Amino acid sequence: MELSKGTIVISGGKPLYGEISVSGMKNAAVAIVLSTILTEDKCVIENLPDISDVNVSLEILRSIGVKVRRLDKNTVEIDSSVAAPCVAPFELVNKMRASYYLIGAELGRFGRAFVGLPGGCDFGVRPIDQHIKGFEALGAEVKVDGGYIEATCADGTLYGNSVYMDVVTVGGTINVMLAAVKAEGITVIENAAHEPHIVDTANFLNACGAEISGAGTDVIKIRGVKKLHGVTYTIIPDMIEAGTFMILGAATGGSIRVKNLIPKHMDSLTAKLSEMGVGVEEEGDAITITRKNEELQHVNVKTQPYPGFPTDLHPQMGVLLSLAKGTSHLTENIWESRFRYVEELKRMGAQISVTGRTAEFTGVPSLHAASVRAVDLRAGSAMVIAALATPGVTEIEEIHHIFRGYEDLIEKLTAVGADIKVVYPETKYNVF
Ligand code: EPU
Repeated sequence: MELSKGTIVISGGKPLYGEISVSGMKNAAVAIVLSTILTEDKCVIENLPDISDVNVSLEILRSIGVKVRRLDKNTVEIDSSVAAPCVAPFELVNKMRASYYLIGAELGRFGRAFVGLPGGCDFGVRPIDQHIKGFEALGAEVKVDGGYIEATCADGTLYGNSVYMDVVTVGGTINVMLAAVKAEGITVIENAAHEPHIVDTANFLNACGAEISGAGTDVIKIRGVKKLHGVTYTIIPDMIEAGTFMILGAATGGSIRVKNLIPKHMDSLTAKLSEMGVGVEEEGDAITITRKNEELQHVNVKTQPYPGFPTDLHPQMGVLLSLAKGTSHLTENIWESRFRYVEELKRMGAQISVTGRTAEFTGVPSLHAASVRAVDLRAGSAMVIAALATPGVTEIEEIHHIFRGYEDLIEKLTAVGADIKVVYPETKYNVF
């Protein structure tokens, strides 16, 4: 039975105790998997999260002739030697945002790309003008027509150039990097995004023989190389998954040790949790979140590009602010419409009002159980946190969004004492 077709049922309101191990980073994995077509050799990718967005990326590769072999749950071997520049099925590319990396990767490998417009979570308008501007600067001609993007370069070659990003964009930075690794000459991306998955993608490409410097800073320099070779590469831990579990520990109370993370990636969140009065203890590659009976203190949060507070932890943080004493404000600076979770949280008794890009939270001592929807991936994980922090039985619908980004969520939460299961109404067949 496919987990995503069920309803998550949670009986919440008790503190959680134990350890959760973080999986590989979704947003690095989807970029790295699609960028393997830049080499004609085999690559082995380790610590790959077994989640639907990554599995869709692997399906996209298969659809263009790439051979993908799963060596174990989290390791795949990708052989792109026979990849062909054919059109990946629209139903696949439309399932997720990161399918746009196929454009940069195909341009880099074949000198042309024909790819359907990407899907992904609905946060209002999600333009890719900066990606296109970058491809054009490298000499590609780009047309957007009938739901497809076609990019071609006259003599099959891209040429290095300066690309100034008008907005800080994660996808745009990675996509231009993919197109530039095999271009002739030097490409300089200015006002680049700094996110850890950009650094991880650059590290992967460099391990394959690319010459990229400056990833993780404002200016990334790429000296084009003729050929990339195969490599075995391990994906870094997912800072958003780690942050989701840290916020969970703060919301439910108890003590959760979140391990296999990179503490530096969590700085903006650990600072806010400490400000709220939550115990945060760092030890090696783990952070333990402890809250006994202390009240959560109100704070103000603004989402920013890395190293600022991540937009992908906004809805989860919204749950915590709903439970914090006094009035808190959360300002969304990345996506114009990331507040769709607010209506769902209000069904559980949260007191939130949204004006423009800022939500005001008036803390309540407790939420109440209700039937809610996972309106997108992170909104879905926020509902899981809210339900686990709330006495009574909460049901969450549309959970396919959640399984796009969280590996073994039910098992990981059960291991820290959560009462959570997936229920299938038609069959009355319950899992876990
Ligand atoms: N933007 C433009 N033009 C562009 C590209 C982006 O104006 O050409 C704007 C966007 O509208 C947005 C801002 O720039 O306001 C940032 O967008 P960005 O390109 O950084 O987002 P993305 O690459 O499409 C990735 C993650 C998202 C995450 C954002 C921001 C992947 C696959 N997705 O999206 O992750 O919210 O960066 O950090 O890496 C998630 O994992 O739940 C998720 C939505």
